[in-house]
Amino acid sequence: MFAIVEATFLAPDVKRFRIEAPRVARNRQAGQFVIVRVEAEHGERIPLTIADSDPTAGTITIIVQGVGKTTKMLNRLEAGDSIPDVVGPLGEPSDIQNFGTVVVVGGGVGTAIAYPTAVAMKQAGNRVIGIVGARTKELLILEEEMAATTDQLHLMTDDGSYGEQGFVTQKLQQLIDDGGIDHVLAIGPIPMMAAIAEVTRPHGIKTIVSLNPIMVDGTGMCGGCRVTVGGESKFACVDGPEFDAHDVDFKILTQRNKMYRQREQRSLDEFEMTTQPELGPCHLQEEHPEVGPRVGGV
Ligand code: FAD
Ligand code: FES
Ligand code: MG
Repeated sequence: MFAIVEATFLAPDVKRFRIEAPRVARNRQAGQFVIVRVEAEHGERIPLTIADSDPTAGTITIIVQGVGKTTKMLNRLEAGDSIPDVVGPLGEPSDIQNFGTVVVVGGGVGTAIAYPTAVAMKQAGNRVIGIVGARTKELLILEEEMAATTDQLHLMTDDGSYGEQGFVTQKLQQLIDDGGIDHVLAIGPIPMMAAIAEVTRPHGIKTIVSLNPIMVDGTGMCGGCRVTVGGESKFACVDGPEFDAHDVDFKILTQRNKMYRQREQRSLDEFEMTTQPELGPCHLQEEHPEVGPRVGGV
């Protein structure tokens, strides 16, 4: 059992946990993740990036966005509760070198995944420029932490409710037009990472993305996390999760991630039904399946 020592919401349905996991805390490097199981028996395994660690206290930090059954179950846990399984550190660490000027782009909860690498890039002597984006103000996370580790930070919201209005790609384009960018790390939703790859490609700026295929064992054995990079099959859990954005086939990644969408929605509906029984069964959907499943308790 892995005890939760701290649990705080950073944004609606985005929660930061500090967990006792001394061996992982001692050995982890930027870019690595853990595989977590929230239910001891029959629970599914999900990968979560190690956002930070404290080897002296023996704790790691994970930041979780509740998107489906397992992440929403996790986000109901509090300090004092515990997690049955935390396995790691897994994956290849980020390639940290003194590249010169590095732009770190984080979209939504992708900022939590990019943050440890931003810290390591700064420690390696790079000038680090951060671009943090979110749909709206309340979803923008880790502003303080990114400000403390970057030489310059740009905050972007789609609706202009905070920072500048616009997409992270627009800000990156501006920075590239100003000149002097040597390396880019971009982590966020797949369409965002695919768009960033097209911004940097014409300029030949090395661009790294962290891929999020479905992972099961996290050790290269199940084949679940197969991605296509440079025309070759790779397993993101052992060959990645970071890859050269200019070589990634984002179309195949998007298709593979959608494979279990219906089953995932069904298990979320069942979970919400058992935890919010007052909602009752959705008779409208039983009679008219074309209306689709109940979403978010609506
Ligand atoms: P579901 O309803 O089961 O699925 C929702 C969507 O999540 C799916 O459509 C699929 O795209 C994805 N997903 C589902 N199961 C898995 C799985 N076993 N492995 C990977 N993706 C899955 N999220 C965070 O909030 N914080 C992080 O730090 C973080 N780090 C990640 C690091 C890596 C290397 C990877 C691959 C993913 C990371 N994710 C992170 C994404 C997180 O693993 C998924 O959101 C989570 O597994 C969804 O599970 P669910 O049951 O709540 O949702
Ligand atoms: Fe099984 Fe990568 S998660 S091979
Ligand atoms: Mg799931």
